[in-house]
Amino acid sequence: MEDVSVVILAAGLGTRMRSRKAKVLHSAGGRTLIEQTVRTALSLAAPQRTFVVVGHQAEEVQAEISAFGTGFIHQEEQKGTGHAILCGRDQLKDLGGLLVVFYGDCPLILSSTLHTLIAYQRQHAGGCTMLTTKLADPTGYGRIIRTETGEVECIVEQKSANREQLAVKEINAGVYCFDAGLFWKYIDQLGCDNAVNEYYLTDMIAILIGSGNAVHALKVKDSAELLGINNRVELALVDHTFRARKIQQLMLDGVTVEKPETVTVDADVTVGMDTVIEPFVQLRGKTTVGENCRIGACSVIVDSELSDEVEIQPFTMIGTSKLERGVHAGPYSRLRMGNYLGEGVHVGNFVELKKTKLGQGTKAMHLAYLGDAEIGAGVNIGAGTITCNYDGVHKHGTKIGDGSFVGSNSTLVAPIELAQHTYVGAGSVLTHNVPEDALAIGRSRQVNKEGYAKRLGKLKT
Ligand code: UD1
Ligand code: CA
Repeated sequence: MEDVSVVILAAGLGTRMRSRKAKVLHSAGGRTLIEQTVRTALSLAAPQRTFVVVGHQAEEVQAEISAFGTGFIHQEEQKGTGHAILCGRDQLKDLGGLLVVFYGDCPLILSSTLHTLIAYQRQHAGGCTMLTTKLADPTGYGRIIRTETGEVECIVEQKSANREQLAVKEINAGVYCFDAGLFWKYIDQLGCDNAVNEYYLTDMIAILIGSGNAVHALKVKDSAELLGINNRVELALVDHTFRARKIQQLMLDGVTVEKPETVTVDADVTVGMDTVIEPFVQLRGKTTVGENCRIGACSVIVDSELSDEVEIQPFTMIGTSKLERGVHAGPYSRLRMGNYLGEGVHVGNFVELKKTKLGQGTKAMHLAYLGDAEIGAGVNIGAGTITCNYDGVHKHGTKIGDGSFVGSNSTLVAPIELAQHTYVGAGSVLTHNVPEDALAIGRSRQVNKEGYAKRLGKLKT
């Protein structure tokens, strides 16, 4: 919409969060509050007409959303929500059209609701349309005060409200669509004569009405969407709603989710059709899961790419790894970071991988640590195999060629290279490279001392 500009207020510290971090840098649903609200804003206006008011930890907030190309308004001192907009006067006053304002601590607001708000303002003209809703417990919110005939009169903040006003259940959601021309025409009437000496944006409502411009209140039925975050209890509630929305969308898109209320999926995750997600799974960051996969209970997958028909058994952790079609991993595997598992690879219980590549069909079924290793196709890694990749100062690589067989409890001291089709005898400690087709045995020979027990006098004959 070419004539719409959007301003998100995000300069406050958020004292009630009790945090060293600015409120909008906290996350809900797998995105920071500021990223979430900026994405919503950009569904209404071009980046050139979208502005974020920053103050507390301005640099961090700007860095968090720098990729989106929005403008920034600097509010050095936080003197209220009205003052926040005033700080952007030079950038905003000549843009004309409609000015949508909402707060960075209200991330659940839907783009569709904002479109309805804008459409309402266009149809009814006047100074402003704002969103309101009824709350069973309106504590903390600004109350919508109406005349006897039901017309909006003003907004009264919690701190300034009298008993009668406090009893009002209709609240200000903090989401407004102003006529930009009228907004800038009357903004200078905004004062700070209130309990906390702040310039309240909410006072613009009475100012516009007082100057003969209509103000409309658009009531939203689902008040959950308007929930503002002032403390961590509300942060958890908002997070819960984001999670529920995401899981519902996945299910509608053809993913089976068992006990959906226990599953956590971040906003940017994608999951293919007919995949089954078992209880207590977490899919985080930029993870993508293909079709027809199964993600076992209590598994945690972060920033990873799983192709189709991958089966992850319970209690498996995967970070920044790529798994090709038909990989099996778990239960209890840890694919820590930077791994590549070719088609049909099997990784079993208590196997840890770090920066390791496993070629097609390779198996490491139990109890192994494979780090900084490049392992070919069709390799069998026995139980208890360890790549000793670290000498206390540097990391070293291990290479194992296609079709090799590493016997159980082998220790491969890197840097080391095993060529194709090599065999390693169980219990070996290898410090030298192994040539193609060779069997390497790196352990002392077994000696049997005949009659030993008898000599100890332990056995009765
Ligand atoms: C505000 C509204 C209240 C409404 C509620 C809805 C005002 C005066 N009150 O109250 O009517 O019911 O939101 O959630 O607007 N901010 C700045 N600069 C400032 C002050 C605040 O950028 O100087 C930002 C904050 O970072 C925050 C947002 O504005 O993201 C709202 O501020 P907050 O203090 O949370 O306002 P509420 O008390 O919730
Ligand atoms: Ca708030």
